[in-house]
Amino acid sequence: MTQALRLGIAGLGTVGVGVVKIIRRHADLLQARTGRPIEITAVSARNAKKDRGVNLSDYAWESDPVALAKRDDIDVFVELIGGENGPAKASVEAALASGKDVVTANKALLAIHGQELAEKAEAAGRVIRFEAAVAGGIPVIKSLTEGLAGNEIKRVMGVMNGTCNYILTRMQSQELGYNALFEECAELGYLEADPNLDVGGIDAAHKLALLSSIAFGTKPNFDGIQIEGIQQISLEDIHQADDMGYRIKLLGVAQRSARGLEQRMQPCLVPSTSALGQLEGGTNMVVIEGDSVEQVVLRGPGAGEGPTASAVMGDVCDLARGLQIPTFGRPATSLQDAQAAVTGLPAPYYVRLALFDKPGALAKVAAILGDAGVSIDRMRQYGHSESTAPVLIVTHKTTRATLDIALEGFSNADVVADEPVALRIEEV
Ligand code: HSE
Repeated sequence: MTQALRLGIAGLGTVGVGVVKIIRRHADLLQARTGRPIEITAVSARNAKKDRGVNLSDYAWESDPVALAKRDDIDVFVELIGGENGPAKASVEAALASGKDVVTANKALLAIHGQELAEKAEAAGRVIRFEAAVAGGIPVIKSLTEGLAGNEIKRVMGVMNGTCNYILTRMQSQELGYNALFEECAELGYLEADPNLDVGGIDAAHKLALLSSIAFGTKPNFDGIQIEGIQQISLEDIHQADDMGYRIKLLGVAQRSARGLEQRMQPCLVPSTSALGQLEGGTNMVVIEGDSVEQVVLRGPGAGEGPTASAVMGDVCDLARGLQIPTFGRPATSLQDAQAAVTGLPAPYYVRLALFDKPGALAKVAAILGDAGVSIDRMRQYGHSESTAPVLIVTHKTTRATLDIALEGFSNADVVADEPVALRIEEV
């Protein structure tokens, strides 16, 4: 029989247990597909005594993941510990140094240290695979690295944090405010240990950094991403955007411009009728645009035991078949420095203002926009309160810098009651 591929699995949380279950349940199927048995040799986790609902007695136990990574009787180190430093990084480095390929679900580790680790992997003649790190069960890394390898990639974008999408779509459908839904997510266990990773846009930005690197041949540059979370999104904006034909999404977008690589993770409006606009609940969606393929839309579960373990196993099966693709789709030493650029590409914007309801207020707003060089596409005003009138404006395409001149003008005028809200409308 062909030699088995032997795994060492570090981290037995939801995903680790999911991987063990697949390997136990589908041993024959995996062997039939890859031509060799896939076996677990040893596992490691913090608590050896915990009942995880799966039989681990056939596997050696290591309390130290670095010791697991160095074992001679494993071929692939599966890192499911998490965290950008600490044991995750130490054990991945140990695995590479001792000649193991690595499969990981750790987006933070690769977004921050991906270049260094990819170079280490290459120097050792090994690879790091990380399908599970981006958009859970959606095979987006494989699509971008392999299926779309013949394309010059024009733009990659997506909704890649299920928790944020859950909150935003529940705001829309249940008439609940952000705070109530944050509490609901906490009760349901949807939030990361540090919730700011979710609602602050960081988790999704880690994922975007990895996609950008593959798409544009650049070193992962998490620090170059403009990040804005969903904490400031109000029920009023959800409703007003809906009324104008849009949905608000935490959207990650990466594209090249004349200024460099623009990467942004921020709440944006997208048309309600678009695939992104119709994305409900915790589901993820990634949209890839290439010069030949035009547009590919991938949709699926972005988290959870089964979907994430499914992605890990896709990578494990590739390694069992002998497929060795460089970490970011090309040799790590050939990746370019990403010249990070703040958003310069023009787009329409949604602007919401509360105007003092007095003669000439609207004329003043129109003049400020006109003077800044911002042209109005659509405007709507109804639902006055006692003293203020909500005004909704959709601009023609403009840059954020130009719009900021108008926003500055509003703050100096005596007609705007509250801080204006301005959100980019992404053309999708
Ligand atoms: N917390 C993430 C989400 C899943 O809500 O999509 C892990 O990246």
